[in-house]
Amino acid sequence: MTELKVGICGWGNVATGLYEALHGEKIAQLADCKISVTCIGARRDNPRCDYGDTEVFRDIFDIPEQDIDVVIELIGGVEIARELILKAIAQGKHVVTANKAVIYNHGDEIFDAARAQGVQVLFEASVCAGTPIVKLMQNELGGNKISKVSGMLNGTSNFILSSMEEGMSFDEALTIAQEEGYAEPDPSFDIEGMDAAHKIGILAYLAYGSSLPPAHFYVEGITNIASTDFQYAKNHKLALKHLAVAKLVDDAVEMRVHPVLMDEKSSLASLQGVRNGIELDTNLVGKVHLAGSGAGRESTASGLISDLMSLARSNNKLPSRPDHPPVKIVEFSSSIFKYYFYLEVDDELGAAASITSCFAKYGISLESIIQEDHLQNNKAPIIITTDSTSEKNAQATLEELSNLSPVSSSKLIRIERDS
Ligand SMILES: NC(=O)c1ccc[n+]([C@@H]2O[C@H](COP(=O)([O-])OP(=O)(O)OC[C@H]3O[C@@H](n4cnc5c(N)ncnc54)[C@H](OP(=O)(O)O)[C@@H]3O)[C@@H](O)[C@H]2O)c1
Repeated sequence: MTELKVGICGWGNVATGLYEALHGEKIAQLADCKISVTCIGARRDNPRCDYGDTEVFRDIFDIPEQDIDVVIELIGGVEIARELILKAIAQGKHVVTANKAVIYNHGDEIFDAARAQGVQVLFEASVCAGTPIVKLMQNELGGNKISKVSGMLNGTSNFILSSMEEGMSFDEALTIAQEEGYAEPDPSFDIEGMDAAHKIGILAYLAYGSSLPPAHFYVEGITNIASTDFQYAKNHKLALKHLAVAKLVDDAVEMRVHPVLMDEKSSLASLQGVRNGIELDTNLVGKVHLAGSGAGRESTASGLISDLMSLARSNNKLPSRPDHPPVKIVEFSSSIFKYYFYLEVDDELGAAASITSCFAKYGISLESIIQEDHLQNNKAPIIITTDSTSEKNAQATLEELSNLSPVSSSKLIRIERDS
């Protein structure tokens, strides 16, 4: 039986969850290896967990210097975590981390350093915690060409949208998410899309060898979504979700994060609550679906332990650095979608004609135009769905619509189709 000596840096939610999970005997048996926590870097105690006889260092930078095989980085954040990981690598230690922010922002530098030192950096828990997407892409689907990765990758956004679909307002759903511990006291990172952007950046690296950090790509959160959008979408048999996408378009990669309307019968549309879900379009297996818990101390511990087991079995190597030219990221303005436009309009003679002429100006065909019941403010909501057009044309049309005098409010949501 292999013995792996590990040091844990950080002593918060995930670190204590890992420590407790590692003390289950079952894990040692299942892994056919012994994972011993030799030391912990904790700048203060955590009343939630007693570290018993394990040696504790108050300076996390002492951990890479100990007689261990693996440094487990669980402090979060970017710059100090980067420094710690690079120190561990320089000391010849393997690294396991759950930190998506550091991998997204410094992945290339960290992986280059690890290759040069002949050590491994594993990061399963950084995307969807214990839901095993990273190794699935690296190992089991390694023989496939992946043409599209699409995922609902942020539990907070998924929970809020599911609750709004059941009739809650955005603010009510956010308050419950915070009370239940699904959302941080400052939820902006989640609801503005950055958390999902970090995760799709990492998945695009695995699927297409794009850089970490990636070139700029389009990121939009869920703050512009209203409860009525769900009801109007349902009339079109569409569900409203927050989606992160990385997709091959010729020799470039389209990366984007934003709300979408999708077929209500699709597999991703059926996911409710905080669960994360990912769909991979592959050439050999066809569509692969994966769904599971994307956060929480137990789920994250599961992802971290799977990395430790891989290290013990030495069967997980970093993908070699792509020898092709840097991956091009598609300009978002040239991406093609069908669109849902929402307008609030004063009942004025000629309003409909001026609205349809805005679409005609940019050559956009309309699939449907429906006036819903008047709102309390006596405005008429108009829902328009279009045929496929470019993002550039859709944005130009939105701008023109917003300048029409009868239109007091306007927005668009992209419709995601199978491809
Ligand atoms: N929570 C989840 O469900 C989840 C899921 C997937 C991935 N992750 C990732 O796991 C990592 C840890 O998350 P968490 O939820 O466990 O966070 P957390 O509860 O805030 O714990 C972070 C720990 O790191 C310590 N720390 C931070 N900076 C430090 C420094 N400069 N020196 C020494 N100690 C430092 C903190 O100490 P103090 O208490 O003294 O500040 C705390 O003990 C993050 O990268 C997160 O993105 C979390």
